[in-house]
Amino acid sequence: MNQAERLIIFDTTLRDGEQSPGASMTKEEKLRIAIALERMRVNVIEAGFPAASSGDYEAVRAVAEGVRESRVCALARAREADIDRAAVAIESAAAGRIHTFLATSPIHMQMKLKMEPQAVLEQAVWAVRHARRYCDDIEFSPEDAGRSEPDFLCRVLEAVIKAGATTVNIPDTVGYSVPEQFGALIADLRARVPNSDQAVWSVHCHNDLGLAVANSLAAVMSGARQVECTINGLGERAGNAALEELVMAVRTRQDFFPCDTSINAREIVPTSKLVANITGFAVQPNKAIVGVNAFAHESGIHQDGVLKMRETYEIMRAEDVGWGTNRMVLGKHSGRNAFRSRCQALGIGFATEAQLNEAFARFKDLADKKHEIFDEDLQALASEASAAL
Ligand code: KIV
Ligand code: ZN
Repeated sequence: MNQAERLIIFDTTLRDGEQSPGASMTKEEKLRIAIALERMRVNVIEAGFPAASSGDYEAVRAVAEGVRESRVCALARAREADIDRAAVAIESAAAGRIHTFLATSPIHMQMKLKMEPQAVLEQAVWAVRHARRYCDDIEFSPEDAGRSEPDFLCRVLEAVIKAGATTVNIPDTVGYSVPEQFGALIADLRARVPNSDQAVWSVHCHNDLGLAVANSLAAVMSGARQVECTINGLGERAGNAALEELVMAVRTRQDFFPCDTSINAREIVPTSKLVANITGFAVQPNKAIVGVNAFAHESGIHQDGVLKMRETYEIMRAEDVGWGTNRMVLGKHSGRNAFRSRCQALGIGFATEAQLNEAFARFKDLADKKHEIFDEDLQALASEASAAL
């Protein structure tokens, strides 16, 4: 894979993820997650927003000191005090980044910032120049880009790249975009900003309409080469694009995507569990990749297919994302083949076909009364069936 084909994974679990109401983390917890992200080979870890609190400042410092392989990024509004604080927080990083942002949508400029567009443009340029005094890796985000006016966005992006931004990140801050439109926006901006090839193009999608991953992937098809994401899709409101889904979509569909990540996917499930344990945000069972049912099969038809050849109903291997193996769940939809196979694995043999039939009939009766049949249930019903005949 050459350099142009690398998709940079920028994880913001420790910053935007922590902005999930109720998900705040201590310095020690953040460091544990950062080490897990580094082990997973995340390229950039956004460790926090140092101007937000002294706890966040200390946490970013600790991550900058403790992580050596991933770039450590600190967020700052486009203000002198924020940028100065971010710069000090990452000073001991092996590789650091300052990420500064300023809103560019009409609603944010008028109602929140109370600034004219020209003043926003000038402040963005000033902020990037100021950040460059401390660090040669600077990211700029026009907040609420998804609802910004494209001509104005082009002017801001051209100016911040000229001022020294090395990454320009297009956030869909309120999760308003839809994939076709967001992909077209990225293509349009890249085509119209004259110095667009002097920066890495990044996207940061929120999940208010459940489209964060789809929007990010559409942007990748339009040339974005950094995606911002979080473990388990944690983040403000409905969350951010889920790292595990982005990484596995791109990897599983290498026939389609023109790039791949450097992520060690076997670390995905352990890291997901760590984040769930630390934040107390449980992962829904049917969540793609990291949900407990993501590689489980219950229906007889599916179990029979998978037992004959996994690929009949599996497009990824459970082991490749850090699960022990796939799972056959015995329940009322399960068939004879899965029943017999689990019994064999448990060392339960049937002397005659009649005994197997009797045990299977008892299993179906029990399955109508219980959600899931466990190994102990199978042992019990197999001996009852043998005794009955
Ligand atoms: O959602 C957003 O716009 C952000 C920016 C700070 C990038 O989180
Ligand atoms: Zn965000």
